[in-house]
This record gives sequence, C-alpha cells and structure tokens, in this order.
Amino acid sequence: MAARRKIIIDTDPGQDDAVAILLALASPELEVLGITAVAGNVPLALTEKNARKICELAGRPDIPVYAGAAQPLVRKLVTAEYVHGKTGLDGPDLPEPTMPLQPGHAVDFIIETLDAAAEDEITLCALGPLTNIALALNRAPHLAGRIREIVSMGGGLFEGGNTTPAAEFNIYVDPHAAQAVFHCGRPVTLHPLDLTHQCLTTRERVDAFRAMGTRVGTATAELLDFFERFDEQKYGTEGGPLHDPNVIAWLLAPELYSGRQINVEVETGSELTMGMTVADWWRVTDRPRNVHYMRYVDEAGFYALLTERLARLD
Ligand code: BDR
Ligand code: CA
Repeated sequence: MAARRKIIIDTDPGQDDAVAILLALASPELEVLGITAVAGNVPLALTEKNARKICELAGRPDIPVYAGAAQPLVRKLVTAEYVHGKTGLDGPDLPEPTMPLQPGHAVDFIIETLDAAAEDEITLCALGPLTNIALALNRAPHLAGRIREIVSMGGGLFEGGNTTPAAEFNIYVDPHAAQAVFHCGRPVTLHPLDLTHQCLTTRERVDAFRAMGTRVGTATAELLDFFERFDEQKYGTEGGPLHDPNVIAWLLAPELYSGRQINVEVETGSELTMGMTVADWWRVTDRPRNVHYMRYVDEAGFYALLTERLARLD
C-alpha cells in the first residue's frame, strides 16, 4: 500500500464532526497524527471531551487529543447548541471518556508536528472555525511549506448562509481566522454549503448505519437522527445535510467531487454580512485564485464510501 497520508483533524464536535472523525479512523489510507479541538459548536471544554469520546467509540484511545483556542481571534464566541444539543454530541448515550486529554496546547502540537515534518507532508483537516490553524500559521509562518494542503468545511455562495443570511457557521464564528488561512499561500480546498447540502441524511441512509448492528453503526444513526431534526424542519427536506465528513471523503475519493480554483475573500468589516465567503465562482475579478472551491459531489458515492468504511469499525 502507498504511504499513508498524514493528517491532523482540527474540530469542534458536533455530530457531523464525529462522523468525519470516525471515517478518518476507519480509513487505512490516512494516518491521524492527532486531533485538535477548537471552540465552535459548543465551548472548548465540551469539544475536546467529545473528540475523546469519539476516539474511544472508534476503539482508538491512542490518538492524541489536544485542546486549543477557547475564543475566536477577534470576535466573541458564538455557539450552536440549538443545532447540536447541550453537549454538542446529543443523540447517543456515549460514556464519559477515560483516555486523557494531552498536556499542552493544540497550536503548539500543530507547530511541533509541522516542525518535525518534511516539506508538503502534513494535511490539515479543518472541521470547525479556523482559529487554531490561523494561530499556528501566525506564530510559525516559516513552517507553512510543511503543509501539503488545508481542507476545510465552511462558507457558501449559492446556498447562502446557515447562521446569518450571508454566513455559514464555521466562517461566521471566526471570519478573521478564515481570511488569514485562505490567504496563507498553501493550497486550500473548501467544502461549502453549496456542496454539503447535496448530502442529505435520508431515512434509508441512516437506517443503513443502524443495520450494521455495531456500536459505531448504532451511535452514528443516533447522532444523525438528532443532528438532522433541526435542518429537516428548516429546509423541509427528508434528512439534513451532512457537512464535515466531506473533508475526509474528499481525501479518500476525490473522483466523487468537482469544483474550481477561484478567489474567495471573507467579509470581516460589515456586521450585516460578517463571515460571508465572497466566492468569485464566475471569475469576474482578477483577484488571486486562492481556494479550490468544491461545488458538486456524487452523494450516492459519498454515502456508499461512508457506510463501507464505518462498517469496518467495532
Ligand atoms: C458546520 O457548522 C457546524 O455546525 C458543523 O459541524 C459544520 O462544521 C456547518 O455549517
Ligand atoms: Ca464542525
């Protein structure tokens, strides 16, 4: 087998983050060097604990989990308990984790990992607000070349926002971090709402997880049952969009995806449109094409991959 791709998962679990982490841990093509938690869907004390719960669910208490930024770079933290529940991981009854949180800060872990890596070696998978990654790049710009790619879920153009009419949650929470990361000079691949809204958790798809009859399959179905209830009502669809696992699925099966290299700028000035990703899909400006913007996914292929991989756990 080819060398495994080395990734760090930066995340704010979140039910869809949890499914993304399970997908990564189930996939032999990927080597998860560590998980770094950031404040987002719920405060940091919960996101770091949730990350450990998911590692234990996957039977991987050996994965180092670090806590990072408790607040965005500039703005006050906004959370989303109304979507994810009080714990951030409402749905299944997962035991309190017994694996330890690593000592040290997530940003130090990211910097130390880059420092020990070769050029172009590390892929950063960002499933939440981009605060930790922006802090690492700001403190160690000389190590940016060690980053092969930053793959991130966030933003939207055609679908509008899901937190304000203009902004998607991850970018809205820390727009300054997003703008810095999108302009860091390393390849950035973005999975916006325009893409993730194609990946609906229909009854049949959720039932396929339940039918596995494993701990992971049952927990995944329960996570998604909880997660979809809010968006089903909001959008009037059968099931809700599944966002974050696209970041990992894209690493595993890029042929399922298509997009374009375009310019994306993040609004950080206007309160009305704060966190909007101004995505130049039609290339009407000559601003630098800094982001690989994913637009379409073969959603049946995405769910087939996810189901096949999660069935390997337990
Ligand atoms: C993003 O925000 C969070 O609620 C989800 O985990 C996902 O990362 C979707 O807008
Ligand atoms: Ca997330």
